[in-house]
Amino acid sequence: MTEKLEDIAQAMVAPGKGILAADESSGTIKKRFDKISVVSTEDSRRDYREMLFRANDAMKNYVSGVILYDETIRQKAKDGTPLVEVMRAAGSIPGIKVDMGAKPLAGPTAKVETITEGLDGLRERLAEYYKLGARFAKWRAVITIADGLPTWNCVKANAHALARYAALCQEAGIVPIVEPEVLMDGEHSSHDIDECYRVTEWTLRTVFRELYDARVSLEGMILKPNMVIAGQKSARQSSPEEVAEKTLRCLKSTVPAAVPGIAFLSGGQSDEAATQHLSLMNAAGGLPWALTFSYGRALQAAALSAWGGKAENVAAGQRAFTHRARMNSLAALGKWEAKLEKAA
Ligand code: 13P
Repeated sequence: MTEKLEDIAQAMVAPGKGILAADESSGTIKKRFDKISVVSTEDSRRDYREMLFRANDAMKNYVSGVILYDETIRQKAKDGTPLVEVMRAAGSIPGIKVDMGAKPLAGPTAKVETITEGLDGLRERLAEYYKLGARFAKWRAVITIADGLPTWNCVKANAHALARYAALCQEAGIVPIVEPEVLMDGEHSSHDIDECYRVTEWTLRTVFRELYDARVSLEGMILKPNMVIAGQKSARQSSPEEVAEKTLRCLKSTVPAAVPGIAFLSGGQSDEAATQHLSLMNAAGGLPWALTFSYGRALQAAALSAWGGKAENVAAGQRAFTHRARMNSLAALGKWEAKLEKAA
């Protein structure tokens, strides 16, 4: 291995930098395009992502790495340059989503609970992705809070799969992003922040126990958790300060200091809330790990609507993306302020 896992992980969470999650599966990106009335084709997906990766200021200064989907890591820009080269030229590290999605977990809770699949053949796929330029990977496990849920079976099975995935990544010289997401949106989202705290704590404890059993090097991984926050349908929504305080308390009690960085998912928070929460946590200071963003929706929503699928809107889309990337970069330094949003 030419690069050390620790060095890649450190670069992913360098001060003021975070990760762009642009790894929507073809099904998910179609849903995003439907909302702006753009037909999802190989070319339109390429045009959209090329727009983001050619936003030089954002990619150079605020985005350390990009999580790609299988199609994108093999795709070429309009001028024939591989997209991986485009982002590398801007100083961003290519990463790859390697899970095959969350599928119903067989058993009595199969209508709600899922297990993330994709371990079979993963060793061979990782070797290919390494050759294609990926230096980190992502696997997302999904935990749903509902009446009497999650079950221990679901938490345990997903944590075990995350650990097996992480060990395979490190064997291949690839830094694993370990993503156990306790959902805050969707059909089952009426839980309050304290229920989210309880389940997130339980999940993270289980994940780190499994990572230990699998002998995963904590120095060579990044954790991608949800924030501790009320579900979207909860009648009791929390203040930004409460989200920041409870998220930090939960992470401090579960995530070893050997982990170089924690990069949050946005999970359905508004763009500004995701930024504000991150900034409040970093402003609190005294953290043993770097705390940054690995946002999908909260980095892309504004860019998607500014672009709207039209070539003449590429500059506007890039401006919108760069703005969110800069706001989140400031948040990663604990220096974001609401008035900076209005100045944009
Ligand atoms: P969101 O920030 O939109 O939750 O996406 C992040 C991600 O990569 C989910 O797996």
